[in-house]
Amino acid sequence: MKVVVVGAGIIGLSVALNIKETHPDASVVVISEDLPDDSTIRSISLTTTKSGAHFRPFPSRSREDYIASHYPRVTQRRFKQLVKEYPNETSIAFIKGYDYVEKVDQLYSNLSAGYCEEISNFKVIEQDKYPNENVKFGAQYDTFVVNPSTYLAWLWKQLGTKHGIKFIHSTVNSLKEVASKFKGYAIVNATGIGLQYNPTALGEPQYDPKCYPIRGQVLVIKPPARVLDKYMKQTITYQLANGEWCFVIPRVDQQVVILGGTKTIGGTCETFNDDERDKVVGNARTRFPDLFDENGKIELVDYRIGLRPARHGGVRLEREKIEDTDIVHCYGFGGCGIEMSWGAAVKVGVILDNLKGKL
Ligand SMILES: Cc1cc2nc3c(=O)[nH]c(=O)nc-3n(C[C@H](O)[C@H](O)[C@H](O)COP(=O)(O)OP(=O)(O)OC[C@H]3O[C@@H](n4cnc5c(N)ncnc54)[C@H](O)[C@@H]3O)c2cc1C
Ligand SMILES: *[C@@H]1O[C@H](CO)[C@@H](O)[C@H](O)[C@H]1NC(C)=O
Ligand SMILES: *[C@@H]1O[C@H](CO)[C@@H](O)[C@H](O)[C@H]1NC(C)=O
Repeated sequence: MKVVVVGAGIIGLSVALNIKETHPDASVVVISEDLPDDSTIRSISLTTTKSGAHFRPFPSRSREDYIASHYPRVTQRRFKQLVKEYPNETSIAFIKGYDYVEKVDQLYSNLSAGYCEEISNFKVIEQDKYPNENVKFGAQYDTFVVNPSTYLAWLWKQLGTKHGIKFIHSTVNSLKEVASKFKGYAIVNATGIGLQYNPTALGEPQYDPKCYPIRGQVLVIKPPARVLDKYMKQTITYQLANGEWCFVIPRVDQQVVILGGTKTIGGTCETFNDDERDKVVGNARTRFPDLFDENGKIELVDYRIGLRPARHGGVRLEREKIEDTDIVHCYGFGGCGIEMSWGAAVKVGVILDNLKGKL
């Protein structure tokens, strides 16, 4: 099997690792504009290292959502195994998740399809235990978090040292260009939001007009020592009645917390926005008061800005033959690419297996 993976975010590297684990003899090349490490922490064309990152199951709003809800379950199984095998390297941690919805949403209160299947210790929270009077629905469950920088670096190391795959650090202008260089290879397009920055160079109509970015700005917070331990053991998400989000996600390996967050549909601004910081901190003040010190200050140590690679109609995970080349599309993961990563990689593996013999 001969495969070129374009993109070294969590999706591309998971795809590459799954191929090597299932087909050690496969010839796998990864091409990426960004290095999969923190030297590119401000680069807007790599989203993974800017993400939360937790698994937050949610009830499906569409058929596409429901189909995609299978992927994080596959990732969850894999991560349970990785935690056992590599307890210190991957930064994956299984902790408690809490959902609080501050508006009436029957999809939540009905526990609609896609929400609690295969989720351990899922419990609806009783009304008298709601943390504030705006909450209309609450649930708690077991889930996982990961420091995406640590995990991405771990995937990369596995690929390089254990599997000896070839990594090419360069920007691709079109998949056509890749196809002409790598004859007889299948190409996995795992470019996230990336290729969209260069639509004219793609030799249209390759650019997918259904793709769009959802910009997110999150804060890296050092919790006060007295609550640090508590914040390392839980991820909490509030959905506000006005559509805003207020969440905390621990980076267990660095003992800091991601405080979020914004979701700007179509946003592409790469610079830090002070008003957004104030809004996020303001929303946190009443919901996470113990993150603030006696003087009402919160310890902001860093920030992340990333573009969630969203797509109308959801994830695109399918094969297409373009001219003589088999392309496997693997993009459009929006705000769920971390939790869906291994599920997507397994699906790409199945698609490639069906092409076997021809590769
Ligand atoms: C603030 C924020 C919070 C988030 N929280 C969560 C969360 O809690 N849980 C969750 O599951 N998801 C979360 N996400 C979403 C998640 O980060 C993304 O869905 C995921 O990272 C997408 O991964 P990817 O590999 O598809 O894309 P990327 O990580 O962007 O990787 C794309 C790769 O393609 C390369 N590339 C692009 N264009 C080219 C080119 N022309 N030539 C060569 N290489 C190219 C890039 O260099 C990069 O290596 C969050 C995102 C943000 C911004
Ligand atoms: C939730 O359940 C109620 C009662 O069965 C039903 O009437 C309603 O349509 C459901 N709502 C959604 C969004 O599924
Ligand atoms: C590759 O992925 C991008 C999203 O990054 C998409 O716009 C483009 O259409 C895809 N390319 C092809 C040839 O399918």
